[in-house]
Amino acid sequence: MSTTHSTAATATSSPQTGGPAAAADLLPSVPLLALDRQYAVLRADIQAAITRVCDSGKFVLGPDVTDLEAELARMLDVPHAISCASGSDALLLALMALDVGPGDEVILPSYTFFATASAVTRLGATPIFADIDPHTYLIDPQDVAKKISKRTKALVPVHLFGRTADMDALLPIARSAGLPIVEDTAQSILSTWHGRCTGAIGDVGCFSFYPTKNLGGMGDGGFLTTTRDDIAQKLKLLRVHGMEPRYYHQVIGINSRLDSIQAAVLQVKLPHLDAWTTARQVNAARYGEIFAAAGLAGHVTVPSDEPRGRHVWNQYIVRIAGGHRDALRAHLQKCGVGTEIYYPVPLHMQKCFEHLGWRKGDLPHTEQAAEETLALPIFPELSAAEQRTVVGRIAEFFQAAPAAVPAPAQTPPRRTDETLRTDAPEQPAQSPHVVRRFVGRADDVRC
Ligand SMILES: Cc1ncc(COP(=O)(O)O)c(C=O)c1O
Repeated sequence: MSTTHSTAATATSSPQTGGPAAAADLLPSVPLLALDRQYAVLRADIQAAITRVCDSGKFVLGPDVTDLEAELARMLDVPHAISCASGSDALLLALMALDVGPGDEVILPSYTFFATASAVTRLGATPIFADIDPHTYLIDPQDVAKKISKRTKALVPVHLFGRTADMDALLPIARSAGLPIVEDTAQSILSTWHGRCTGAIGDVGCFSFYPTKNLGGMGDGGFLTTTRDDIAQKLKLLRVHGMEPRYYHQVIGINSRLDSIQAAVLQVKLPHLDAWTTARQVNAARYGEIFAAAGLAGHVTVPSDEPRGRHVWNQYIVRIAGGHRDALRAHLQKCGVGTEIYYPVPLHMQKCFEHLGWRKGDLPHTEQAAEETLALPIFPELSAAEQRTVVGRIAEFFQAAPAAVPAPAQTPPRRTDETLRTDAPEQPAQSPHVVRRFVGRADDVRC
């Protein structure tokens, strides 16, 4: 390993070059997410919207929800946008609409939030976990192809962290096997693939309005998108107990309706989404520059941008080599820098799925990512000084006494990918991300 601790030390002292903050300029804290900054700008509009709904006395579904659905459909350029109570319910409803049930298998990544898999098991079907591409952390299409069986009923790629899964590879696999694709778009609103929005590429898209998402409500919420009229009709029925007309039940559905207050708040936020997304892209590009200047390439692998579509950076995930991830996180926490681990235990290793029989080693890239990745602050209002502080604190950690920071060569050698191997020759710093700016209002965007 040729990158030394002193390389990082040199970089910390030259913030003028666009590198990390020098010791004297480090800020006392940087939050992982600061929703209060967004709220400060929108407070008056949000409060007025909530008051209007309270005055209307219409709290569930209703005109606010219908208007929001129409706006979302227009923005994502998809014929149907159907709201529901959460992203978890969106996944459940999508699989219900595709008649997934006992005896069926659904292929999905293990490296995702729990809801992707629990939607499958709640219907009595079996999740079949596929490994990820170690560069993108997204489902590996080759592993998906290997795992298709006679029982496979659907594929669920997750556009994790805001980056689109490799749909060039997944679509032909699904088509030749005659399988529908349910896109887990919970983290990827406004992300694209060759100009099409995620959620409008496969058969159904499942979005979340959870507050930490790029378009977050003030509580739970979600929506589905589809280009298929048959699925749209089923979804509208399934979210209201299969009821049509009132008190006549055509199928057994669930209660998964969006509140009018959420819809009103989301309508205030929607016109800002494109600008917030661009701010996330700018922040990602800036991290690329600061990390490159910091000379941390031997310790920290920064995420790459996606040339085939718009990466919307719901999370900025770095990989920490040498088994230092947890110690680095503890150091950052002590310095007031917020971070998170998405996700520390892959789904195939979760206690609740023990009965499925998966073992450690079954999905090596997934397991390694769970041990090595760390999410850094990336929210739109994050300042350059805060980003320099984040990288400055990371550099500070790697400048620590060698005894406290064991050599990166201790990383388990199971990875086969040369560019990510810590015993491979030092890689040049990754070039800064290309920021594709989407100019105009959110509703102008053909995404
Ligand atoms: C990838 C993924 N899928 C599904 C969900 C579920 O969404 P919700 O929290 O709105 O139920 C989330 C939300 O955290 C998610 O990140």
